[in-house]
Amino acid sequence: MTGERLSDGVVTLRPWRHDDAPAVFEACQDPEIPRFVPIPQPYTLGDARWFVDHAAAGARTGPSAHFAITDPATDAVLGAISRHGPVGHRASIGYWLAPAARGRGLATRAVRLLVAVTFGTTPTVRLEISTDLANERSGRVALRAGFQPEGIRRAWDIDRVGTPTDAMFYVTVRPA
Ligand SMILES: CC(C)(COP(=O)(O)OP(=O)(O)OC[C@H]1O[C@@H](n2cnc3c(N)ncnc32)[C@H](O)[C@@H]1OP(=O)(O)O)[C@@H](O)C(=O)NCCC(=O)NCCS
Repeated sequence: MTGERLSDGVVTLRPWRHDDAPAVFEACQDPEIPRFVPIPQPYTLGDARWFVDHAAAGARTGPSAHFAITDPATDAVLGAISRHGPVGHRASIGYWLAPAARGRGLATRAVRLLVAVTFGTTPTVRLEISTDLANERSGRVALRAGFQPEGIRRAWDIDRVGTPTDAMFYVTVRPA
């Protein structure tokens, strides 16, 4: 996927660049992102630089894929989406949007693009999204993108203060 850009005309997924770090830093000051995504706290510009550089390098070597979600007209960073894996036939997707980009269906569009490219270019059969049970907004993204609710996995994650948390799993399977 090196250098690849994916777009539906409303959102573009493109590789991360070093100069995206300030936009990532600014977006990740929103408390909803560290509430549901395991990023360092406090989140510094150095953390953002580390993220964009490692995401770009990781996407080059695979199998995971990491993209900036951007505005096709301005190239501004709107959010982030990653596919972890595939490892064997399984992979998972995670994402966040900057606060100003929410409420317009952009995360759903980004997930649909990544699902299509994943089934089109990798041997993935089972693709999952897991969300904190409290993260109803993210669950609605998964449902709108065509994932099926599969069930709750107890104590799937451990939060920042060491408490086990339950996760809801949403799954889509490669069409036969
Ligand atoms: C999870 C997150 C990406 C969802 O963002 P979002 O803006 O709700 O998702 P979308 O971009 O798909 O937008 C969907 C919303 O826009 C609305 N919308 C408005 N116009 C729309 C359109 N043309 N098409 C689709 N939806 C539209 C939808 O009704 C929906 O709102 P609703 O869920 O209240 O009904 C965002 O809340 C976030 O970044 N949270 C913090 C990080 C996080 O939780 N990441 C996920 C970890 S599992």
